[in-house]
Amino acid sequence: MTKPLLEVKEIYKSFANNHVLKGVNFNVLPGEVHVLLGENGAGKSTLIKILTGAYSMDKGTIHWEGQAVKIHTPIEAMELGIATIYQELNVIKELTVYENIFLGREVKNSKMGLLNRKQMIEKAQDLLIRLGQNPKLATVPLGQLGLGQQQLVEIAKALILEAKLIIMDEPTSCLSGREVEQLYKIVDQLREEGISIIFISHRLEEIQRLGDRITILRDGYSVETLPVSETKPDEWIELMVGRSLEEKFPKKQFERGDVGFSLKGFTVEASHAPIDLDVHYGEIVGLSGLVGAGRTELARAIFGADKRAGGKIVIDGKEVKITNPRQAIDAGIAFITEDRKSEGLLLDLPLDINVCLANMKKFAGRTKLLNLNKMKEQAKRYVKEMQIRPNNIELNARNFSGGNQQKVVIAKWLCTNAKVFIFDEPTRGIDVGAKVEVYRLMNKLVEEGKIVIMISSDLPEILGMCDRVIVMNTGRITADLPIAQATQEQVMKAATIGL
Ligand SMILES: Nc1ncnc2c1ncn2[C@@H]1O[C@H](COP(=O)(O)OP(=O)(O)OP(=O)(O)O)[C@@H](O)[C@H]1O
Ligand SMILES: [Mg+2]
Repeated sequence: MTKPLLEVKEIYKSFANNHVLKGVNFNVLPGEVHVLLGENGAGKSTLIKILTGAYSMDKGTIHWEGQAVKIHTPIEAMELGIATIYQELNVIKELTVYENIFLGREVKNSKMGLLNRKQMIEKAQDLLIRLGQNPKLATVPLGQLGLGQQQLVEIAKALILEAKLIIMDEPTSCLSGREVEQLYKIVDQLREEGISIIFISHRLEEIQRLGDRITILRDGYSVETLPVSETKPDEWIELMVGRSLEEKFPKKQFERGDVGFSLKGFTVEASHAPIDLDVHYGEIVGLSGLVGAGRTELARAIFGADKRAGGKIVIDGKEVKITNPRQAIDAGIAFITEDRKSEGLLLDLPLDINVCLANMKKFAGRTKLLNLNKMKEQAKRYVKEMQIRPNNIELNARNFSGGNQQKVVIAKWLCTNAKVFIFDEPTRGIDVGAKVEVYRLMNKLVEEGKIVIMISSDLPEILGMCDRVIVMNTGRITADLPIAQATQEQVMKAATIGL
């Protein structure tokens, strides 16, 4: 049998009295794509941070190429040949692609200690070719590239270090369909070159497409390692949540009521065509399209986060004036953003404040002092309802796992008693079990007489949970289909037509 490149044994890690890792064992073979799967908060990112020297472990051993090693710092990890692509990219948008690739390890011109620009550009071009990209990108400022290409720059950085193991923590969660395909090809190619990959993902289809073996983490333990091709996602889910998942999409049908929310001649940018849209009570409307189709821009303009060029917003037959988010909230609009880090949460404040943040008024008594007990009660209710873990409302938002942060963002808006809910990629980064909880909440909102609009790039989710799908493409609506008539092909066609 081939010897493992990396072997971890009995890793333990606690934060105060939160025991996060309680005996993790697994190994990675050379040239293998090894998937880590587990619920939100199971400890995947923590494990990765230990392997890359960002956190120290409490107990356990790490073997690298058969030798026991200690990884104290990110530099030590790099020196061994471990590189990481974190979810939040580590790039500088103002610098060019090649400058980013060589950041911190500039090639010096031996005599004068000057940077050898020409050499760096050439090397960067080689790397871009190896990654299937146009070499001309080397001198383009990174900010001009899409997220997918920015992520490739991170991979190029790993290649320049001659990494033997590249760790990718949910790398596809913010990429568009095409970018995702491109990343899959690169993963295939790296595997062929003998580079090992640890791949974290909540997307089961992608695990099937890419993974060689999968290790399931549950509640801080590694439950089992299985060959991907000989096992089924249902088995993984069962190991991961400890029970089988009956229904992936718990869609409930309600009677379609009156129009509750409309856009009339709504124009985001002067150069775009005006948008007309009616959303009825009793239905969930899905907004589909490629990343960059203008869905988030539309939502931001509705919410008053960006200025719009023209048109009206009508709620229950009355035009509402919205020029800023405050007015949108007062008009009963909730916007659950896709970018939880920069828009959704105050990372250095505790969970109870974050949950109540969008509706502080509700907690202000006659004296205008905040009723903290009431806030805590409310926060506790949502922690329970949405199974936010750990269930500690005093913990700062930063210290929750990615998926649990997303649940906090949703709870924050549920707390406002809004009337119109616009969800932007609500289940991104959320594990399969928790997704079902989010869908149930949407059902509940519709049942309670709210308007629900869901922007999602996950087509099965739209087809599984919505009553109607609206497809956007370069700022326009190119299809409006009742779900019974919508197929994956039709939606894709409308999303790509004319591109
Ligand atoms: N710096 C920290 N301080 C306190 N607790 C932390 C810290 N970092 C992580 N945790 C806790 O460790 C647990 C595991 O978090 P981790 O981020 O590893 O989960 P994950 O498996 O990556 O989840 P997700 O799928 O949501 O990304 C969580 O309960 C989290 O709150
Ligand atoms: Mg994580």
